[in-house]
Amino acid sequence: MALSKLMMLLLLALISCSCMIRGCGAGRPLSIRNTFTPFQYSKFQKSFFVAWSESNVAAVDGGHTLQLSLDRQSGTAVSSTSKYLYGYFRASIKLHSGNSAGTVTAFYLSSQGHNHDEVDFEFLGNVTGEPYVLQTNVYANGIGNREQRIFLWFDPRSEFHTYSVIWNHKSISMYVDDMLIRVFQNNEAHGQPYLSKQPMGVYSSIFDASNWATRGGLDKIDFNNAPFHAHYANFTMDSCVVNETVTTSVADPCVAPTSTEWWNAEWFQSIPANRVGQMQWVNHNFMVYDYCTDKERFPVAPFECAAPIV
Ligand SMILES: *[C@@H]1O[C@H](CO)[C@@H](O)[C@H](O)[C@H]1NC(C)=O
Ligand SMILES: *[C@@H]1O[C@H](CO)[C@@H](O)[C@H](O)[C@H]1NC(C)=O
Ligand SMILES: *[C@@H]1O[C@H](CO)[C@@H](O)[C@H](O)[C@H]1NC(C)=O
Repeated sequence: MALSKLMMLLLLALISCSCMIRGCGAGRPLSIRNTFTPFQYSKFQKSFFVAWSESNVAAVDGGHTLQLSLDRQSGTAVSSTSKYLYGYFRASIKLHSGNSAGTVTAFYLSSQGHNHDEVDFEFLGNVTGEPYVLQTNVYANGIGNREQRIFLWFDPRSEFHTYSVIWNHKSISMYVDDMLIRVFQNNEAHGQPYLSKQPMGVYSSIFDASNWATRGGLDKIDFNNAPFHAHYANFTMDSCVVNETVTTSVADPCVAPTSTEWWNAEWFQSIPANRVGQMQWVNHNFMVYDYCTDKERFPVAPFECAAPIV
């Protein structure tokens, strides 16, 4: 495994060298590296806008941290101005430290609208001293119902951790720090829908979900503890920005695995065995709910549940 990773790095280094010479990507203005590391609010504002309640969004810590708040009046949401087709998306997030029961903090990709595609990280709050639950979900062509829920192996309220998605032609991988927690593979060859046609935006929000979030709605939000804060830093979007004008005539603007589109490289298209091992460790030790094993909802497990990870 270490060897193939080394080969990959060498290959990437070679590709980027030849790019410097040939001006790789010059004819492909859609690909970007959009990174906010270290985080600067002024830079962030160029690529995101506040989609819901401006007054609940603030730059704190000298502009190095984005703060989203939920109070009695409102929650809030930010949205990227562009949409992206494939790529790497990451945010460092620190969750509300007090009683957060009934709140949901979300970091997700979505194409929005009818028959939408979506990839979700949803942090379900809890009463003081009880753990957050991380719920993930994947929608393909408007169909979701793929909830998985895990406890985290650290306290997400005490410091920043990174949550990321690698989305390519073969699969969608979701990571917590460096740990793979979930894979949704492209099974279009078996007639299953995949997230392959609709560009998705990047979103983050915090909202009141008292009716379902904590112990299925038993622990409601206590606004005496408001405002509830979620903190964000170091957003990264390495991706193909979809220019609607251009892409109407281009079926897929992001096919070639160039150095600027490393998420499409072979190494990321097949999931290495050690990564699968990590995911199994997480599932075995931290999973609290898996739609794949919910016989009441799915007497026959959905296709992707039985498909081997390749
Ligand atoms: C953000 O990135 C900077 C520069 O890499 C790093 O020093 C800092 O620790 C990061 N912050 C968080 C919250 O991850
Ligand atoms: C909250 O804590 C309770 C008790 O430990 C736990 O059963 C539940 O899964 C936790 N999280 C949520 C979101 O309900
Ligand atoms: C989209 O492409 C058109 C045509 O090439 C170009 O004129 C326009 O500036 C592009 N828009 C963005 C946001 O890059």
